[in-house]
Amino acid sequence: MKDAFGTPQSLLVLGGTSQIALATARRLIARRTRTVWLAGRPTLALETAASELRALGADVHTVAFDALDPDSHETALGKVFSEGDVDMVLLAFGILGDQAHDEREPASAVRVAQTNYTGAVSAGLVAARALQTQGHGSLVVLSSVAGERARRSNFIYGSSKAGLDAFAQGLGDALHGTGVHVMVVRPGFVRSKMTAGLEETPLATTPEAVATAIELGLRRRSQTVWVPGALRVVMSALRHVPRGVFRRLPV
Ligand SMILES: NC(=O)c1ccc[n+]([C@@H]2O[C@H](COP(=O)([O-])OP(=O)(O)OC[C@H]3O[C@@H](n4cnc5c(N)ncnc54)[C@H](OP(=O)(O)O)[C@@H]3O)[C@@H](O)[C@H]2O)c1
Repeated sequence: MKDAFGTPQSLLVLGGTSQIALATARRLIARRTRTVWLAGRPTLALETAASELRALGADVHTVAFDALDPDSHETALGKVFSEGDVDMVLLAFGILGDQAHDEREPASAVRVAQTNYTGAVSAGLVAARALQTQGHGSLVVLSSVAGERARRSNFIYGSSKAGLDAFAQGLGDALHGTGVHVMVVRPGFVRSKMTAGLEETPLATTPEAVATAIELGLRRRSQTVWVPGALRVVMSALRHVPRGVFRRLPV
């Protein structure tokens, strides 16, 4: 159960090595979170992440999870929920892809779409049903500003995030009144391994800043969180810029 500040006692991360997710887990452990499940592809990095969180005093488990294998999602998430209530599910997996390469290799573009969108549709629905069955909990979905408006420079990733964002909003509406809360998080450029080596865009931020915003959003039971918050205003203006002008912007 969450405490009065909305901090979960138990957390399930889908995409257990995500730097944003791990910053969030560290922050929540420093508050009250005691049990953490890291779901991800079985790698040394996943086990290392679990050890690091254990060192902070949490009870940490790992479970095999592959976004690209939706047939396995019921079993993977079912194992976690069968061990006890989960107060928060953080859907954090995703790949950026390589836009130029993916335009030439449609199979690679499909992999981006399947990871970020259809993988999330499957895992999101499985998680939502489990949360609804227990009668409480939050599903926090890492979307992106990239989904707000397709950009020439990364429209394959952006379109997958647009799909994910619309899905998560609809799921939030479907679960309204059930005791399950869905929160869509839209970070801008975050300095993590996903963006390593890329040129930063304005208002670049850190995994820790995203974690802080998530914690605040949980407390407020927000439906949408922008990180940094100024992006909400920037994007609401950019959304209305005519196509011909938008195309020439260095974004
Ligand atoms: N960084 C940014 O600028 C930014 C901005 C906005 C939104 N986001 C979103 O925030 C989320 C977390 O990103 P991050 O910055 O923390 O990046 P990250 O550190 O690269 O984390 C990405 C995570 O996705 C996992 N993943 C990739 N494919 C998977 C699959 N098929 N099955 C299971 N897990 C898979 C990775 O696991 P492995 O270790 O197995 O590869 C890793 O745990 C992503 O959804 C991303 O799109 C990031």
